[in-house]
Amino acid sequence: MSSEFELQQTADGVQLVWTAGPKGIKPLHLDFRAGKSGYRAVNSSLKSESLIKALGITGKRKPSVLDATAGLARDALMVAAFGSSVDLIERHPMVRILLQDALERGRNGTDKIADCCRRMQLLEVEHVKQVSSEQYDVVYLDPMYPKSGKQRAQVKKDMQMFQQLVGGDEDANDLIAPALDAAKFRVVVKRPDHADFLGQREPNTQIKSKKHRFDVYIKQGFEQL
Ligand SMILES: C[S@@+](CC[C@H](N)C(=O)[O-])C[C@H]1O[C@@H](n2cnc3c(N)ncnc32)[C@H](O)[C@@H]1O
Repeated sequence: MSSEFELQQTADGVQLVWTAGPKGIKPLHLDFRAGKSGYRAVNSSLKSESLIKALGITGKRKPSVLDATAGLARDALMVAAFGSSVDLIERHPMVRILLQDALERGRNGTDKIADCCRRMQLLEVEHVKQVSSEQYDVVYLDPMYPKSGKQRAQVKKDMQMFQQLVGGDEDANDLIAPALDAAKFRVVVKRPDHADFLGQREPNTQIKSKKHRFDVYIKQGFEQL
């Protein structure tokens, strides 16, 4: 529940504190230059990133992307690092504040992360169904994973906090139809290996990585792009 959480302004930006959380959980401070995601955004190669392949981004082709379940925008940062513009939709108000704050800080500077953050924009709308038909080349969905006993035991502390904040996205199946409407070329859904297809809808193809898979729904080829 959100009342268990508090946003605090610090000299380095906004941080989220889980006031009712277990001991040892640090505040969540989103910084696109820090941690694994920042490193990957600067150093990854096209060949090694399944997400980028699934979205259809190549050296020459940079489709516009809507990330309709933005979360902490780690995936969106990677997409922007490969040159696509990424609009973000996030419905949780506290996550939106963290995102907006991190994006504004991220845009300051002349480094690659600043370029990426300038290609990322948090939208005012809170659901992909509010987006016009075929407004984006590609729509990306990564709702919270459905629960599995094994997975719960493995969840890291910072992710426990995030899960407690945003909940289980029980309505995730409702995302696929409006996402297909908003996309011109394709929709990509990130799923854990054990999960059913989103909305029981079979994808045209899948790209598998070590921890999860990307289900790809193709509306038309990229020839027109
Ligand atoms: C697993 S997280 C996304 C993680 C993200 N891909 C990343 O790289 O950080 C899922 C996020 O989607 C948001 N979300 C779920 N359903 C949504 C919906 N229908 N509209 C907007 N946001 C949604 C949740 O609040 C949560 O923050």
